[in-house]
Amino acid sequence: MTYSSSTVRVPDVAAVPRHIAIVMDGNGRWATQRRLPRVAGHTRGVDAVRAVVEACARTGVEYLTLFAFSSENWRRPMEEVSFLMRLFVTALEREVGKLHANGIRLRVVGDLSQFDARIQDLIRRAEAKTARNTRLTLTIAANYGGRWDILQAARKLAEQAARDGQVGAIDEQAFAEHLALSYAPEPDLFIRTGGDTRISNFLLWQLAYTEFYFTETFWPDFDAQSLADAIASYGRRERRFGRTSAQLEPQSQDVDSLPC
Ligand code: FPP
Repeated sequence: MTYSSSTVRVPDVAAVPRHIAIVMDGNGRWATQRRLPRVAGHTRGVDAVRAVVEACARTGVEYLTLFAFSSENWRRPMEEVSFLMRLFVTALEREVGKLHANGIRLRVVGDLSQFDARIQDLIRRAEAKTARNTRLTLTIAANYGGRWDILQAARKLAEQAARDGQVGAIDEQAFAEHLALSYAPEPDLFIRTGGDTRISNFLLWQLAYTEFYFTETFWPDFDAQSLADAIASYGRRERRFGRTSAQLEPQSQDVDSLPC
């Protein structure tokens, strides 16, 4: 169990974020600006996914979580939803071999029961093929919503409590173990491209102490340099997890300032 709650225990912090979560926004506007159909932006979005996955693997990021399709994205025009589904299938078919060859584990989280059987089967096979890879875990959030995730975890805990009667045993750790991303640490860095500054029902539980980075760059233009800029911004943050700045200073300074 990798998960450890940032509100229960202060996590270790490194210069390179262990886990980056991204809302890939701006595909439609990228295309519209170029007088292209919106879906052309999604196609270019897949190229950006490839570039960012490669850059994360090179940089030593251990977990990358991408919001590919939210539980609210079904509200889009039917043709755009169908296009996104086809794009997802094609990307899975084409890229899984490359992911595997590069030591990348693939996970897909969300309410997958809404996808057709062929997609569900492709996902299961891709996950099984890459299950033992350890260089980078790439998670695709598909038909995912933060509230859905919290609710499905609550439901499982309630069922468990109804069986064993141990309501008092429900704590943060027990709760988080039922969340879709229970295998990953909480994200250190959240990135949203496309200029909007909201979470849009992404990882509501897990973002409690995550650093946020918003950029105007549309997702198809987000590349290795954009990722490096985001990581550099993260490196300048002071992550206090509720403590004061003074508490973060190296111990030796406190000792030096003590009267002899
Ligand atoms: C948001 O841009 C993007 C999406 C809803 C889909 C993201 C999908 C991809 C990048 C491609 C598929 C991904 C994988 C992992 C294979 P938007 O359409 O909301 O842009 P807009 O705000 O400019 O309209």
